[in-house]
Amino acid sequence: MKIKSAEFVISNSDVTKCPKGMIPEYAFIGRSNVGKSSLINMLTSRKSLAKTSGRPGKTQLINHFIINKDWYLVDLPGYGYARVSKSTKKVFQKFITKYFEQREQLVCAFVLVDIRHKPQPIDLEFMQYLGKSGIPFCIIFTKADKLKPNAIDKHVEDYKNILLETWEEMPQYFITSSSKNIGKEETLNFIGELNENMITD
Ligand code: GTP
Ligand code: MG
Repeated sequence: MKIKSAEFVISNSDVTKCPKGMIPEYAFIGRSNVGKSSLINMLTSRKSLAKTSGRPGKTQLINHFIINKDWYLVDLPGYGYARVSKSTKKVFQKFITKYFEQREQLVCAFVLVDIRHKPQPIDLEFMQYLGKSGIPFCIIFTKADKLKPNAIDKHVEDYKNILLETWEEMPQYFITSSSKNIGKEETLNFIGELNENMITD
C-alpha cells in the first residue's frame, strides 16, 4: 500500500473526544521507548510526524494521524514506564484502558516489543488483556537493526515458545527497524488488506 498523505489530527487524554465516525484505526502500544512513534514516522515516511525521544515517556496523549484521508494510525503513551510517579502512571493506564474499551473503530492493535529483550511479563499480560477483551492484535518486533539475523530468529523463536504456552497459535508478527526501514511494506500491506476486507465484508 502506498502512503499518499499523512496528517496529524488531534491529541487527547479523554477518549470520548477522539475523532467520531467509524473510520478504521490501528493503534500502536507497548512499553515506553520501544519505538511506537518512530514506527509511525517510518511507515509514513515522515521524519517527525509523531514526536520521538531517547527518553522514555515522550508520548503522553492519544494521537490520531489520518492516512490517505481514509484511516487512522494512533500513537499511544507507553505502559510500564518506571520513571513517572505512581499517580501519573495510573492516569496513563486509565486512559489507555479506556481507549481499548471504547474505540469500536479499532481494527487491530499492534503490540510493539523490543526484539533484543526476552519476553517481558508486562507485554505478555497486555496481550492477555487484549485477548480477553476480544481485541485483535499483532506483534511488532522493533529495533531489528540491533541484532544479527540469527539472533533475530532466536529471539522470535523464544517469543513463540512462551506465547504458545498460553495461546493456541502465534499471533501474526512483523520484524521491523525504523532506523533501517525494515518491515515497512509487510506492515502496510497487512493494514491495506484489513482495510479492504472491511469494505467487502
Ligand atoms: P514513548 O513515547 O516514550 O512511549 O516511546 P516510543 O515507544 O514512542 O519510542 P520512540 O519512537 O520515541 O523511540 C525511542 C527511542 O528508540 C528513540 O531514541 C529512537 O530513536 C529509538 N528507536 C526507535 N526505533 C528504533 C529502531 O528501529 N532502531 C533503533 N536503533 N532505534 C530505534
Ligand atoms: Mg512515543
